[in-house]
Amino acid sequence: MFSFKIYESGLDLNHEILNIISEIDQRNMDHSWSFESWKDLLKLKDLILITALNNDQIIGYVLFLTQPIDSFAHLIQIAIEKEFRGKGLSKVLLEKSFFEINKQSIKTIQLEVSVTNEIAINLYQKMGFTTSRSIAKFYSNGEDAYIMLKMN
Ligand SMILES: CC(C)(COP(=O)(O)OP(=O)(O)OC[C@H]1O[C@@H](n2cnc3c(N)ncnc32)[C@H](O)[C@@H]1OP(=O)(O)O)[C@@H](O)C(=O)NCCC(=O)NCCS
Repeated sequence: MFSFKIYESGLDLNHEILNIISEIDQRNMDHSWSFESWKDLLKLKDLILITALNNDQIIGYVLFLTQPIDSFAHLIQIAIEKEFRGKGLSKVLLEKSFFEINKQSIKTIQLEVSVTNEIAINLYQKMGFTTSRSIAKFYSNGEDAYIMLKMN
């Protein structure tokens, strides 16, 4: 049974949650963060983190940093554990995020994605993002990235 939990500030997070998310990040992302970087979220007021749970166990998440004063949000990471992929969980995570983002009058959502990550590019296009431009050697392994935008 899947459920979802929304965190709207770093103050709502704790080390236990961040530890689990950091482990999912390490297992699933090509360009993962250190635990220290995840811990820095505890200091941030403006974020939207939504976790996907299977029987109360976190199996995926999406993280946005928001700048309401600039009407801007940045999709930082989205990941679903391998065995739970292809079940529509990312679409639900993004739909719930857009609902929260809409409450803040945010006009522009930006993300970066590796030009080789076809699955993620498909997901983002399906959810209304369009490619704005590419940045050469954006990632530490030399891969290029697309900048994708969604206007509200
Ligand atoms: C990208 C990722 C988050 C998608 O999660 P998911 O829950 O499996 O995705 P969903 O089941 O919600 O599928 C949503 C859409 O993504 C695309 N998609 C998902 N799996 C796909 C596949 N195997 N091949 C092609 N497109 C695919 C499709 O457009 C799909 O929509 P559709 O089912 O209506 O065709 C997941 O594959 C993942 O965690 N990948 C590793 C981490 C990563 O690359 N994150 C993104 C970079 S920040």
